[in-house]
Amino acid sequence: MRILFIGDIFGRPGRNIVKDRLPPLIKNHGIDLIIANGENSAAGFGITPQLAEELFELGIDVLTSGNHIWDKREIVDFFQMADGNPHSPARRLLRPANYAPDLPGFGLYEGRKDDIGYAVINLQGRVFMPSNDDPFRKADQLLKDVKSKVILVDIHAEATSEKISLGWYLDGKVTAVVGTHTHVPTADERVLPNGTAYITDVGMTGPFDGVIGVKKELVVGKFLNNMPVRFEAASGDVRLCAVVIDCDEKTGRARSIERVMIG
Ligand SMILES: [Fe+2]
Ligand SMILES: [Fe+2]
Repeated sequence: MRILFIGDIFGRPGRNIVKDRLPPLIKNHGIDLIIANGENSAAGFGITPQLAEELFELGIDVLTSGNHIWDKREIVDFFQMADGNPHSPARRLLRPANYAPDLPGFGLYEGRKDDIGYAVINLQGRVFMPSNDDPFRKADQLLKDVKSKVILVDIHAEATSEKISLGWYLDGKVTAVVGTHTHVPTADERVLPNGTAYITDVGMTGPFDGVIGVKKELVVGKFLNNMPVRFEAASGDVRLCAVVIDCDEKTGRARSIERVMIG
């Protein structure tokens, strides 16, 4: 099975490049399953039900997220639509699993693609992030109930050490651990000794002519003056950052992980 994981889709520029580039990417890389982090789809801040549905219509199977998941309040209603319906499209949008358990939404999805079972787990780090439960123990707890062999984990976190540690911790237990949130791709993709594909950060799918997606003059001004400012999405130098993971669907072991950046 070949999995495409697309890094944080940022605003309209990010959505548009996914729309344009996804069909050739699927064809050229023989992709079977598509997962994307959508936490910045709505002008950089959160995701709306309509945008989630649009991304699903492009062929994305599962959307993960992170700290921006609640930025658009209507996403709470979307999560509630999935209550009691395990195959609702709303069920295929995840929020980090290690948030307070009574919050709306889920951090694990198990589905089938071309008759191959797969699972996606979304976790958030704890270093330099808002407080949440332990992602390591949460992963253990979730994996006890997962039936699929092919398992992808999105670790949405700031600190490289925390992400690399989770990669080692889950080596041999999941197919891939991919990092998101920093919006900056790292060049450390590899398959760990027990068969888990790993990268610290997949990078952003959006405008690089800015500061992690936001207009650069606004962010530079914030650092200079520390006065309140309304962030707006940048627009230039739009790139799509992703990884392609090839795995054996019978064992769930990864064979390779390849970094993709197209502009
Ligand atoms: Fe993000
Ligand atoms: Fe984030």
